[in-house]
Amino acid sequence: MIDIHCHILPALDDGPRSLEESVRLLEMLRTEGVTLAVATTHVLDHRYPSPTAAQIDEGLRAVREADGGKLEVVGGAEVRLTPDILDLLDRPELFVNGGRYMLVELPSTLIPVGTENLLFGLTSAGVKPIIAHPERNRMLLKHPERLREFVRMGCTGQLDAPCLMGSGGSELKRTALKWLGEGLVHFVASDAHRPGWRAPLLAEPYEVIRRELGEDLARAVLIDNPRAAVENQELSHIPEVAPERRRRGWFTAWFGAS
Ligand SMILES: [Fe+2]
Repeated sequence: MIDIHCHILPALDDGPRSLEESVRLLEMLRTEGVTLAVATTHVLDHRYPSPTAAQIDEGLRAVREADGGKLEVVGGAEVRLTPDILDLLDRPELFVNGGRYMLVELPSTLIPVGTENLLFGLTSAGVKPIIAHPERNRMLLKHPERLREFVRMGCTGQLDAPCLMGSGGSELKRTALKWLGEGLVHFVASDAHRPGWRAPLLAEPYEVIRRELGEDLARAVLIDNPRAAVENQELSHIPEVAPERRRRGWFTAWFGAS
């Protein structure tokens, strides 16, 4: 599998606090079946200073050397969607493996005014925004039509894998599977942080998707689409977005449209 969202670089955000923790995290990713990981340090997050290109370069060099190249690690970032994001488009180290895919993060409680404008600014500049863990945004959970609109605008979505194991409750797991089935999310990733906190879990989520929605989709969101993003290609699996379902009364639900 290919993990397009994990915090691997040491001492830059709330990911590994040391190089030793980074190496341990890489070992755990391998155990889960990951062969390539994108290191996605937080950027434009008010809690941490945004890393410089030199810090990202140095972090990548250090983890590759300490791990002995057993797991391939490429660069990237998890960029908070603020107006400042439009000033970062000439920084290839913040894109998935230096291509045009960028992992962007919304706040967890709201969808800020102007979000569509920012996403339009990104897509117009040739960026392919990947919305990180939309299932962790309360407004998107309440109003999935907003996510549908983001996808129609050319964005893709990435689920955090643990929600498929029920880590956020059975209701959230149901929603995650529904969004996968409706074509609202295109990637599943670990969003791993440290060995003892938000550790990587991907093997079981793969099985959950395979069992519930089929092997093709499991491969698409955990192998093929992530590989396409890393190689800066069009995604191999872009599902048709299911139309919004109208609320149906019991009669139409059971007997069809009247
Ligand atoms: Fe993250």
